[in-house]
Amino acid sequence: MDDDEQARSGSSSPEFSPLNFGEDFAPLPEYKAAGDAALDFSGLLEEPLKLHEDLSAGCGGQLWPAGMLLAKHMLRYHRNELRSARVLELGAGGGIVGLTIAKGCRIDQPLYITDMKDMESLMRHNIDLNELNDRVEARILNWGEPLSEEIVEFKPDIILAADCVYFEPAFPLLLQTLKDLLALTPTATVFFCFKKRRRADMQFIKAARKAFQMAEIEDEDKPIYSRENLFLYALTKK
Ligand SMILES: C[S@@+](CC[C@H](N)C(=O)[O-])C[C@H]1O[C@@H](n2cnc3c(N)ncnc32)[C@H](O)[C@@H]1O
Repeated sequence: MDDDEQARSGSSSPEFSPLNFGEDFAPLPEYKAAGDAALDFSGLLEEPLKLHEDLSAGCGGQLWPAGMLLAKHMLRYHRNELRSARVLELGAGGGIVGLTIAKGCRIDQPLYITDMKDMESLMRHNIDLNELNDRVEARILNWGEPLSEEIVEFKPDIILAADCVYFEPAFPLLLQTLKDLLALTPTATVFFCFKKRRRADMQFIKAARKAFQMAEIEDEDKPIYSRENLFLYALTKK
């Protein structure tokens, strides 16, 4: 299987493991045994979000730093602005960002958390754990593949992507999906949270700058998270 096929199928590759990132920019994520986390984002959530973490289905089975940052940012700055939004999360893993929004932001319609097939049961488990079945739908959305009819009809206008830049062969696939979503809804905004780990990650950012308007988003925690090579961008159609 070549790298592209591997990226699409999500089958295990050494690079898919959070334990296999190069150490040139960041320390390795800590390996965690399966278990439940409870997150209230420094008191921004009245009742903590419960997230089951389990790496057995893939690297999305644990919490990633960009997911934590984007979830907190959405709670802090967009709690009351998403009422009429049509929200879709890409590469959701356990669903941290979408589930946080569903729990803590005012939103009138169900949102979608999406990932590859391997992550489907973890996404559904975390929806159940938080009793968010009426507010969150889990779907398979493989980057680079045509959008499903359901998503095309939904026309997401708030798109979330956290820690989705980590595996080079998937860069063009993610870029294609972002292009497809912004072509579908030209007024959409992608909240894109990224942790720079390797020099190669900048190739994605370079390509994204060519394809989209890319503006850095302000957040009061920026002085802290930028020291960890975390970046928060808003991507819109050029
Ligand atoms: C590093 S994890 C981040 C998970 C979560 N967003 C977070 O911040 O905790 C990256 C996620 O992207 C998903 N992913 C990787 N390649 C993908 C592809 N080709 N199509 C769809 N999802 C993909 C993985 O399954 C994984 O859940």
